[in-house]
Amino acid sequence: MRALNDVPEVPGGTRLGHGHLFKDDRLSFFAEVGATGPLARVRFLRRNVLFVNTPELAHEVLVESARAFEKSPGIRLLLHYVGGHGLFTSEGELWRRQRRLMAPLFQPNAIARYARQMHEVATRVLSELRDGQQVDLARETTRIAMGVVGKALFDADTLTEADELGAALTTALRFVDDNAASSRLLVHIAALDLLDAVRGRVPARLRDAHERLRAAFEEPFVLEGARSGAHRAAIARLDRKVMEMIADRRRHPGERDDLLARLLSARDAEDASFAGMTDKQVRDEAVTLFIAGHETTATSLAWSFYLLARHPGWRAKVQAEVDALPPGPIDFAQAARLDVTLRVFKEAMRIYPPVEVLARRSLEPVTIGDVRLPSRSILFVSPWIVHRHAPTWPDPERFDPDRFLPAAEAARPRSAWLPFGAGPRVCIGNHFAMLEGPIVLATLMRAARFDIDATRTIEPETFATLRPKGGVPAVVRLRARPGDLAETA
Ligand code: HEM
Repeated sequence: MRALNDVPEVPGGTRLGHGHLFKDDRLSFFAEVGATGPLARVRFLRRNVLFVNTPELAHEVLVESARAFEKSPGIRLLLHYVGGHGLFTSEGELWRRQRRLMAPLFQPNAIARYARQMHEVATRVLSELRDGQQVDLARETTRIAMGVVGKALFDADTLTEADELGAALTTALRFVDDNAASSRLLVHIAALDLLDAVRGRVPARLRDAHERLRAAFEEPFVLEGARSGAHRAAIARLDRKVMEMIADRRRHPGERDDLLARLLSARDAEDASFAGMTDKQVRDEAVTLFIAGHETTATSLAWSFYLLARHPGWRAKVQAEVDALPPGPIDFAQAARLDVTLRVFKEAMRIYPPVEVLARRSLEPVTIGDVRLPSRSILFVSPWIVHRHAPTWPDPERFDPDRFLPAAEAARPRSAWLPFGAGPRVCIGNHFAMLEGPIVLATLMRAARFDIDATRTIEPETFATLRPKGGVPAVVRLRARPGDLAETA
């Protein structure tokens, strides 16, 4: 059995550790991390962090030993103002109950109803595009994904950056982007860590003060923009808007059938005394779903278009599949026929996983592989690295959607493909996203061709998600299939 200190350290660290590499050139750094071994150690300031780089070890952390971990505080701090105590960041009993309440809303049979909405939103955005127009597909897919989740959650017919709610969310999310890899965040986490480490040793007379200080540090007040007027105003607008919608659904129960109404009426099958979520909890869940649900899907769609442009053979296959659909809206049943399209979408998420790192903190001593970790150890599982584990994914940089043929999928170790995470904290919206991806691709490709300069390499850049740097510029060529656009507009 090894101790964390015996795990090989990734080259390139300075006295302050590897933080600068993580921040400035994360993906090249991840290549180094992956090359260091199945387990690799990096340092942030004086803190050791264990990178877990194979499917089997990732499975140990995320699935088999999931109970020994919580999410690392970084993501909770980043999402503090927008997501509050929503599902993405909550822990313990609160998370367990909320997951139980919300899981039925996201099961495949429950989300079939959203297929038509996905098609309609994509059609609406398409109808605004002109032949020959220069667009950024990353932006267009964001408009679509925002519209889709806006419709599903709030029954909002248009939800774009131009709307009050969309604008407030976009401003509020800038805070997350601005701070995602900042040294201030690392310092704040280090402070939390220190407060937790001394908890058991605080003298009785100082215990209250310690708890108050610890509670105060749940708010990421030192982060860039936390106190800025624009950020605060955006959060206030967001709260007001969402609370108004909640009040409206409480006043007129049964009038709307959106996710917000369903969150309000969700009851706990295991606890009859539970009278439903508070308004604040519903607000936190709704905003969390909005944030978690749109940018991830939008970036995966943008990458899919880019990869198809670079692989015309695959583009032709998808096009043939899409053109074979009957005219009219693409519904749940037809989406099930988009087999090649789904494989392309999955392979896009393998090469460019929108969430490129999942962070965990141990709640108790735990063994991963042959390494014994004390409690409060930080572990990173990077889908970007695991998706490039060569023994599992031969020639990992090659785009090959056939990797997702059923026999190939069955032959791979569990947790080899992790765009949605794995285990109890796996993405609750994964079926939703896997329905939306193919429907949006098919809707757009049926009515238009998007000419992308395939000779230009687009690099990924790490913000809140792994975005195409500079977007995906394309020229719209509307296809002569009259009826496709008009039918559902
Ligand atoms: C391509 C699209 C998407 C990707 C790649 C993605 C990725 C992820 C990942 C990696 C996690 C787990 C994070 C971790 O374990 O640390 C997660 C969790 C989550 N996702 Fe997604 N997501 C996508 C779409 C969606 C959609 C459409 C929704 C909702 C409408 C959603 C809602 C959530 C929520 C609420 C969680 C937290 C679940 C929990 O902790 O219980 N996501 N997502």
